Amino acid sequence: MSSAASPLGSTEFTNPNLEVLYTREEIAARVAELGARITADYTGKDLVLVGVLKGSSVFHADLMRTIDLPLAVDFMAVSSYKDGTQSTGDVEILKDLSNPIRDKDVLVVEDIVDTGLTLTRLLEILGSRGAASIRLASLLDKPEPRINKELTIDYTGFVIPNRFVVGFGLDAAGRYRNLPFIAVVKDPEKA
Ligand code: IMP
Ligand code: MG
Repeated sequence: MSSAASPLGSTEFTNPNLEVLYTREEIAARVAELGARITADYTGKDLVLVGVLKGSSVFHADLMRTIDLPLAVDFMAVSSYKDGTQSTGDVEILKDLSNPIRDKDVLVVEDIVDTGLTLTRLLEILGSRGAASIRLASLLDKPEPRINKELTIDYTGFVIPNRFVVGFGLDAAGRYRNLPFIAVVKDPEKA
């Protein structure tokens, strides 16, 4: 079976239009390091891992399995409004948390922090709910386009250059979230 969208002889995962930035092995090793740090930092706390759908779903699922502690998981879905390609900081909650976070130690799990505007607004919203603590873990940090320079990422997977990346949960127009690695799309015009 061949995919109509991929060049002949290649598959979604071997698409020559993708340049691999981090392999699944490199990601797994880094996630395990973050998990070990989080385990040490949250021992004795009441941890809730809040995944921000959809992009962080893959990282969230992997990260929780490296944290050797009792914990709860929850999810939010937000849509960030873009002005052209840049986010405006206007955030609409599409799905809110299922459970209250009062007195909980919340770790927000994101796929990538770019301008930081989505996270800034999300942390403001969560910040009004009486959590014991709120911190941030992001698989990727793209610092160059950052608008909110005050935003602190407590646990960062990889710091990346100012390129558009896909895979491991990150998409381009809904595609590529299932790639088991992180890649740059070389020519966005091509499939
Ligand atoms: P912000 O600019 O920090 O508000 O980022 C908003 C959202 O844009 C992120 O949560 C991602 O979903 C998306 N985003 C930013 N950079 C990339 C990228 O390189 N690839 C895929 N999605 C991205
Ligand atoms: Mg996101």
